[in-house]
Amino acid sequence: MATTTNWPLLEADHVSVTFPLSGGLFSKKRVVHAVTQVTLKIRAGETLGLVGESGSGKSTLGRALLQLEKVSEGEVRFDGQRVTHGLKSEIARLRMQTAMIFQDPFASLNPRQTLGESIAEVLRVHQKVPRNDVPARVAELLTLVGLRPEQASVKPSQLSGGQCQRAGIARALAIEPRLIVADECVAALDVSIQGQIVNLLMDLREKMGLAILFIAHDLAIVRRLCDRVAVMYLGRIVEEGPAEEVFTRPRHPYTAALVAAIPDISPDKPLPEEPLGGEPPSPVAIPQGCAFHPRCPYAQVQCRTGALPPTRQIADHTWTCVLSHAGDETVVPLTGRSFDEAQAG
Ligand SMILES: Nc1ncnc2c1ncn2[C@@H]1O[C@H](COP(=O)(O)OP(=O)(O)O)[C@@H](O)[C@H]1O
Ligand code: SF4
Ligand SMILES: [Mg+2]
Repeated sequence: MATTTNWPLLEADHVSVTFPLSGGLFSKKRVVHAVTQVTLKIRAGETLGLVGESGSGKSTLGRALLQLEKVSEGEVRFDGQRVTHGLKSEIARLRMQTAMIFQDPFASLNPRQTLGESIAEVLRVHQKVPRNDVPARVAELLTLVGLRPEQASVKPSQLSGGQCQRAGIARALAIEPRLIVADECVAALDVSIQGQIVNLLMDLREKMGLAILFIAHDLAIVRRLCDRVAVMYLGRIVEEGPAEEVFTRPRHPYTAALVAAIPDISPDKPLPEEPLGGEPPSPVAIPQGCAFHPRCPYAQVQCRTGALPPTRQIADHTWTCVLSHAGDETVVPLTGRSFDEAQAG
């Protein structure tokens, strides 16, 4: 993957996002801790997968990185320049060089505009090409995402979900972004169409050196597409590292449970019946200690007390857990067994 500078294209430094929760008249003011103390880096041309259950804060983090959500604490830097509380010019540069693709392919397009009008609008607002060259650039962008130039004259209602998502990607590419945040952008599509869109993103990454933050709950797709992967649980990143490393040797018990639930990841191993029991707790009342402890089959006394688990690291693979796995030890997802029983095999 291309790395053009010494610093990451995008960097989050201890970023938190909270939302006020409107309670009853006399109730104490409570907040939703959607994202807590997230630190991550995305390099130019790199694809970072962001995974975790629904409600873990993935979308909020994605929006906060692009300054579409107010950051309560911490700092975001784009291309080495601070954008949280930064200069207007830096925020404008972020807007000019980043784009977002959403889950609902129809929602990102105006139903009253043709595809051509909708892409041309972006080209005009961002003054990407001279007025006379707009139609040719629209045709070029449609071709780039695997649509036909003639489809510039159709409206979104005349397209399938997959075609609409391609058009949404063409619109995102119109600004010539260096980074795209793709938020569950294939989740609403049929499996075969999902594959086509993933191939398209891989292709664009090669052709344009695009960096992508790929938010998804489908780990099989993330494994295929991403260079690195970050796993979120209740607003925090609990594990991060090279995708292949994290998928074959998950270190955090939560990641291990997610990986065990991928049907095709280790066909020769019997899958645990219920790799991850229960629901995540509410982000309004995050458990003390390790937030995963109520669901963790490895949980020990110290996991339930006040201190956060330590961050551990082997090369560029990090995770936060009290368990110290030296060398090649792997976390085995457990079902109902205690940690000691599992260690005994
Ligand atoms: N605008 C908002 N106001 C209040 N709570 C929000 C808002 N946006 C998200 N949340 C809450 O923040 C948490 C994280 O949400 P989200 O980022 O959408 O998670 P994910 O994308 O992983 O499903 C959830 O509990 C969600 O209900
Ligand atoms: S710190 Fe404790 S509760 Fe948290 S994942 Fe590790 S073993 Fe489980
Ligand atoms: Mg989401």
